[in-house]
Order: sequence, then structure tokens, then C-alpha cells
Amino acid sequence: MNILAVETSCDETALAVLECRGDLLKGLGAGEQSAVCTVLGNALLSQVEIHREYGGVFPTLAKREHAKNLVPLLKAALEEAELLHEDTQAISEETRDKIAIILSREPELCEPFLDFISESERPAIDAIAVTTGPGLEPALWVGINFAKALALAWQKPIVAVNHMEGHILSALASQQGEALLIENIQFPVLALLISGGHTELILMKEWLHYELIGRTRDDAVGEAFDKVARMLGLPYPGGPEISRLAELARRKDAIRPTSNVGRMMSYTFKLPRPMLHDATYDFSFAGLKTAVLYLLKNNPKMSEEDTKHVAEEFESAVADVLWKKTARALAETGARTLVIGGGVSANVHIRRTFRENIACEYPEVKLRIPDLDLATDNAVMIALAGFCRAIRKDFSAPDSIIANGNVHLA
Ligand code: KG4
Ligand code: ZN
Repeated sequence: MNILAVETSCDETALAVLECRGDLLKGLGAGEQSAVCTVLGNALLSQVEIHREYGGVFPTLAKREHAKNLVPLLKAALEEAELLHEDTQAISEETRDKIAIILSREPELCEPFLDFISESERPAIDAIAVTTGPGLEPALWVGINFAKALALAWQKPIVAVNHMEGHILSALASQQGEALLIENIQFPVLALLISGGHTELILMKEWLHYELIGRTRDDAVGEAFDKVARMLGLPYPGGPEISRLAELARRKDAIRPTSNVGRMMSYTFKLPRPMLHDATYDFSFAGLKTAVLYLLKNNPKMSEEDTKHVAEEFESAVADVLWKKTARALAETGARTLVIGGGVSANVHIRRTFRENIACEYPEVKLRIPDLDLATDNAVMIALAGFCRAIRKDFSAPDSIIANGNVHLA
């Protein structure tokens, strides 16, 4: 089955074409292969540079950029997949009118879309998967309307995909040569989802059934990274910036002799580990963010070196809390597989902390973290989730599909 996936939930416009085989829901016996997908085409355009001057994602700008990028990226993804063939297609007046209505809120998209459709053959695509939430609603709508227009023009079904399900599935897929394999997953699966909008612990006892067992009570981890980065004067998105500085600090620590007096003096920044000993699986990062704010207020003359160590201590505090809460959930749920998904799973220190701690304390638990290019938002993950839904014939009537910025997996 060939799936075309469309992702526009935030500030990445992404399209991918995957050829998928197998069935996750049937035949999950030990050693049995469950699903194999080959990425035929993958096109992504990040808007980070555009939003940087606003210090975060500016929704109307994101919507406009998605509208501008979708047709060129579709062409690029189909071309890479060798599914783009020029041909003149007669589109009936009726279809043309319907497409114009579907895309009436994206005027900059309508004309290039109609041009593209009338100049190319219908590609060998079996279903169109599109992110319908969670995310920024104006941004989500562009992708949804685009998918609806494609579905009409090509007469193909649509699968509505939850972005967070995409993050889970991209972590469960392992790269084997050219293919992405989802196999031998031992249940229950515990998923720690950490992104710009989410911090959740989700238990999956069987495929595609989710139970929310813990969540942040205030800021999401990625949000805390981005806000603390701004306090430190670092550009958006702050997560990778903090990570870069923190790693520099750790590297220096590793080579500096312990007798060094400077080390003892300057590295006394200590930040709290919120809710570490609380009996729930919930998180809270607002207090940690405020603690950084006070630390900076109380130390107005921070050197570059000091800033690196604040980044290090903040990142360590986050990793400690994420690990302790997850470890408790592992022990109490008996989970056999641990998944970490969402953009913050790209963080080197968090990846290392979990790898080391799992190997040491829970060697029987299989840890799955997405490859770096699948950790942050992309369309391959949406195609993987779309495939899992499509094999169950979990299609949606185009008219019923709406953007839902706050939709929950469980
Ligand atoms: O999943 P994602 O790409 O988009 C959402 O669905 O939100 O996650 C974006 C978040 C941002 O807050 C970004 O700062 C954070 O992931 N992030 C990181 C790293 N790379 C991205 N946070 C910490 N360390 C990183 N290396
Ligand atoms: Zn995401």
C-alpha cells in the first residue's frame, strides 16, 4: 500500500510517500515481522528561520508558509518516489469548483494546486494520511484542506492521523537498510511523549489503544526548553541550543581536573527537580523555569561559561525528573517496551540518560528512541500511523475531518 502523508501541525511543512506492507494488528507472534515500510519520497521544509524573529511560532505566518510550500513539496516527494508523471488531465468544471471551495481559505494554494492536478497523472497512491491534531489549528487546516482537495482530485480515501500517534510509531520503527521495520513489539508499551506541546506518559497494552497515566500540569518539556533558552538569550527553537551549550559544559567538566578551584566556585548552580517524589506520574516544569529566572536575576553578571553551566543544570534537572517518573511507571505497569517520542527525544543528554539507566536498572525493558531525523516533526511518522489506520480501513469521510488543536490520544 502506498501512503502519501501530509504534516503541517506546527512550523514544518512535510510530505512523504511510503510503501508499506504487513499488518501490525494481526499475527504479532514472536519473531514475526509485523510491518515493513520503505520511504519512497520525503520532503520537508522547516520555517524556523521565519519564526525566529518572533521567538516562537507565529500561527498566521505558519499557515501562509504551509500554503506556499505544499505543492512544491508534493512535487518533490512524488518525484523522489518516481511517481510524478506529466500528463494533461481534464478536470471537470464541477471538480474544479469543489476544489476551489475546499481551498477557499488558502487562496495562494488554490491556483498552483489546480495547475499541478491538471498537469500530472494520478500517482499510484492508495491513501492520503493527514495530521488533524494536536497542533496549531490554522496550520493544521491548511494540511487538511490540501488532503481533502487531493482526495477529491485523485478519488482516494483519507486517514486522519493524531500527531502523537505518529511520534509513537516513528519510535517503534527501526531502520534496517532502506526499510523501516515495526516488529517484535512486546506489550505493554510505555510511551514518554516529550514535545513542544506535550509531556505525557501513555500506556499501550495493545496496538493503538492508549491510556494516559501521567502528564504535565503546566508547561510541556519542549516549551520549558524554549522559554529557558529565551531567558539565556538563545535563539528559537531553544531545545537544540540548550543541548549544545550543556554538552560543551559537560565536555569541559570531563577534561578539567577535579582539583580546579574555578570548577568548585562557578558550578554551584542548583535547580530543583519538581515533583520528583510525588506519588503520581505527573510532571511540572513551570517551577523549574521560574527557578532559572531567579537564578539569572540573582546572578546578573553571568559569563558565557556560567550560561553553559545553567543550561547543563537545567537539562540535567529535566532528564532526572523524566527518568525518575518513567522508571516508576515502568516498575508499576510492568511495561516491556519503553518508547520516547516527540521533538525533545532528539536531546542527546536525555537519550543518554535513558539508555544508561535502562541498561543498568531495567535491562529486560526494550528501549525505542527514534532516529534523529524521525524525532522532530516529519511526515514519515504520519505515514506510519496512517498505514496502521488504513489497514484497519479506518478512513474518514472528508466532510467530517476537522482540525483539533487539543485532541488527546487517550
Ligand atoms: O515534536 P516537535 O518537533 O514539535 C511539536 O510537536 O511540538 O517538538 C518541538 C520541540 C521544541 O520545543 C524544541 O525546542 C524541542 O522539541 N527540541 C529539543 C531538541 N530538539 C528539538 N529539545 C531539547 N533538545 C533537543 N535537541
Ligand atoms: Zn511533534
